[in-house]
Amino acid sequence: MHCIKQITNNLLWVGANDRRLAMFEGVYSVPDGVSYNAYLLLDEKTVLFDTVDKAVRDRFLENLEEGLKGRPLDYLVLQHIEPDHSAAIADVIARHPGVTLVMNRKSADFVSQFFNIDNNIKTKIVAEGDILTTGAHKLKFIMAPMVHWPEVMVTYDEASHMLFSADAFGSFGALNGAIFADEVDFKADYFSEARRYYTNIVGKYGPQVQALFKKTESLIIDMICPLHGFVWRKNLQEIINPYALWSAYQPEEKGVMIAYASVYGNTENAAEILASRLWDADIKAVMYDVSVTPASDIISAAFRWSHFVFASTTYNAGIFVTMEALLSDLVAHNIQNRAVALIENGSWHATSGKLMRQMLEKCKGIRFLGDVSIKSAVKPDKLAEINALTADIVKDFTS
Ligand code: FEO
Repeated sequence: MHCIKQITNNLLWVGANDRRLAMFEGVYSVPDGVSYNAYLLLDEKTVLFDTVDKAVRDRFLENLEEGLKGRPLDYLVLQHIEPDHSAAIADVIARHPGVTLVMNRKSADFVSQFFNIDNNIKTKIVAEGDILTTGAHKLKFIMAPMVHWPEVMVTYDEASHMLFSADAFGSFGALNGAIFADEVDFKADYFSEARRYYTNIVGKYGPQVQALFKKTESLIIDMICPLHGFVWRKNLQEIINPYALWSAYQPEEKGVMIAYASVYGNTENAAEILASRLWDADIKAVMYDVSVTPASDIISAAFRWSHFVFASTTYNAGIFVTMEALLSDLVAHNIQNRAVALIENGSWHATSGKLMRQMLEKCKGIRFLGDVSIKSAVKPDKLAEINALTADIVKDFTS
């Protein structure tokens, strides 16, 4: 049965939720599910913004037909061709063969790469600033390359001041009946998944997100309709402000993220002593075992905190496998502007400290604080080094 949500008097949410997906994009666990948002504008012309993932295609198609109530679909605006939003294009065309696909040139290429769409289907190729008038509404297309793929565009309705923002301002987590962020306790219940979504999916593309901010800064925006997560109609700064920080690679908070890889608990012991000393100095510290906590959670935490400590045992003459994978992921996500300290462990030839440093040196704006090298386990002389490292971090916090 259909399950649509009214957003305004003539805009409907016709998307669908997936709560059974194990791994989004095959990489990211989504314990709270994910929503695939599609929006139906009922103007003189009818306009659908994007489709959904194939897993929820049937519910979406029911919702679409319920929303149209027998009207034909005039336009399908394709803002992003990644298949979590485009898998149902052919199904929509099959039901509405007179529909016009509205997309940019790059999107047209991607559509033909991914799908077998009848060449006779009507298309309207749009470019930066083009406007589609659908009756009372004027849809302006704004290119947003690499937020998150190169063909991405967003759509600004000049009449209603709504921004259809594609992946931007989205979140992991299925919609559980509510559609607006202000209906729920977003900060308490959903913000961490919004952060995990942004940092892992779009985090690498901070400059491109900033470029989109520049293009849209003069617009009056009363509502944001993203392709995942809640619609924003109040307190838009609650989501815009963190995006401004994350895309500039500025931390949300001062505090130390300690990520460690420990085979027999001795490297963990060093990390824990450091965390304890930091709290004693009134500095917030969080700890993650990189072999236990999924990388996407640690990437998300990295965008939150100002200081990092990476602690790794030496393994096969290198960095421990899960730590190496994490650092590689972090570097790929373009993390910048952080202070970093390192703890290495090695029973006969420690190399992990030097190698971790080499990996992190690829990131912009990384400042290295002190480091500690342990032989097998923490002994009194190493306790003194951990205390000295604590002092270095405290000094950095207060300088
Ligand atoms: Fe939600 Fe980049 O797709």
